[in-house]
Amino acid sequence: MKPVNVGLVGLGTVGSGIVNIFNKNAALLSKRAHCSLQLSHIGARRDNQLCDTSAYRVSRDIFDVVNDPDVDVLIEVIGGTTIAKDVITQALKAKKHVVTANKALIAEHGDALFKLANQNGVALKYEAAVAGSIPIIKTLTEGLSANEVSSVVGIINGTGNFILSEMTSKGREFADVLKEAQDLGYAEADPTFDVEGIDAAHKLQILASLAFGRWFNMGSVSTEGISKVAPKDIAYASELGYRIKHLGIARQTSEGCELRVHPTLINVSESIAKVDGALNAVYLNGDAAGGALSVGAGAGSLPTASAVMADVIDVAKSGSAATSAIDFEGEGHVLPLDQCRSAYYVRFVAIDRPGVMSEVAQAFSKCDISLEAILQKEKRQSSDDVVDVVLITNTVQEASFNQAISALKSNGAVVGDIQRIRVETQF
Ligand code: HSE
Repeated sequence: MKPVNVGLVGLGTVGSGIVNIFNKNAALLSKRAHCSLQLSHIGARRDNQLCDTSAYRVSRDIFDVVNDPDVDVLIEVIGGTTIAKDVITQALKAKKHVVTANKALIAEHGDALFKLANQNGVALKYEAAVAGSIPIIKTLTEGLSANEVSSVVGIINGTGNFILSEMTSKGREFADVLKEAQDLGYAEADPTFDVEGIDAAHKLQILASLAFGRWFNMGSVSTEGISKVAPKDIAYASELGYRIKHLGIARQTSEGCELRVHPTLINVSESIAKVDGALNAVYLNGDAAGGALSVGAGAGSLPTASAVMADVIDVAKSGSAATSAIDFEGEGHVLPLDQCRSAYYVRFVAIDRPGVMSEVAQAFSKCDISLEAILQKEKRQSSDDVVDVVLITNTVQEASFNQAISALKSNGAVVGDIQRIRVETQF
C-alpha cells in the first residue's frame, strides 16, 4: 500500500509534541491508520530542543513543505491568521488534506476554508482547535449526530482555568500563575488571548456553529476575560458555596441563541466546578442523549498533539473519501446580551450607615429582582466607615439587572466600582 506522507509546518509547543508522538508511537500510528504513515517533511524557522528531528527532512522555509508534491497531509501548527491562512489555502488548492490546531483561523475564516476544502475534494480537520485532548468535535459531529443539541457549556481555556484554580486553592497572584502557564506551554503566544477570553470565544464560536448547524460570526460572541476577577471575589464566592470558572456558553433559548464567554460563579456541587488546573470540560445537552460532560487536558504539547494526530490518522485511513463534511445552513443569529438571562454576583463598597442595606434591596426590587443571598462584611478596622457588600440575585434579564446597577451607582452610599459576575445554574 502507498505510504501516506505527512508534512508538518510549525515546531513550537504543539509541533514538538507531534514529532514526539511520531518518534514514540510510529508503528502504532501506521497500524491505526491502516497504512504506512510517515512524517516526511518538517518546516520550521528554528529547531526546538523539546523534540528530536534528526530522523526527518527539515526545511527553514515552511512553504517548501506546503509545495512538496510528496506531502499528502499537511499539519499546520504555526498559529495566527496571516501566514497560517496562506499555508492552508495553498495546501487545500494543491489538493492536500489539512489538519490544524488553529482555533483563531477556523473561527474567523473557517466557512471560506471549508468551502475551499470541499471544492478541492479534500478534508480540513481541526479537532485540536477546541478543548485539547477532549474529542469534542468528533462528539458533536459523530457521537451526537442524531441529536438536536440545545446547549454547550464549557471551560475551554486551559490557561484561564489554571490561573483561577491556583488563585483559589493556593491564593497565588494572577501574574505569577500566568507566567507559570506560559512556561508550561499552555498560554497563547499573546496571552491576552487567554486572559481576555478571546481564545475561549474562538472555541465557542466553533462549537456553537457545529452544535447548531449555522455559522456564527466571531463578532457575535460576547466576550469577557478573567483579568478583572479579584482574589476577594474568589474568597466571597467560596464563602457563599461557589467556585469561579471561565465559561463559554452557547444555548438555544425560546427567545434566541445565547453566545457568551465570561467568568462565572458555579455552585461547588456541580461536577464542572471541580474541574481544576489546565483541564477543560464541556457539557453538551442533546435531545436524545441528554447531558454529557467530557473532561480532559485542555492545553499543552502532547494533549494537543494527540488531537492533531487523531485527525491525521482519520484522514490517512479514509484516503480520498476524507472530507470535512460540514454543511452550515446560513448564518447564525445571536440574542443581544441585554436580552440574555442570568443570575448575578455583585460586590461593592458601601458607607456603613443605617438604612443602606434596605436601599440596596429596594434598588433591586424596583427592577423585579430578588436577592438570593446577601453578605455585609464586618469592617476590617473599627476606624473604617465603609464595608464590603456582596449579594447574589435570582435569574433575571440583563437589561433589568443593568437598570438596578445604574440605580445603585447613583446611591451616594455606594463607593467606587460595582463588580458583577454572572452565576450559572443550568447545565
Ligand atoms: N492557550 C490555549 C489554552 C491553548 O490555554 O487553552 C489550547 O488551545
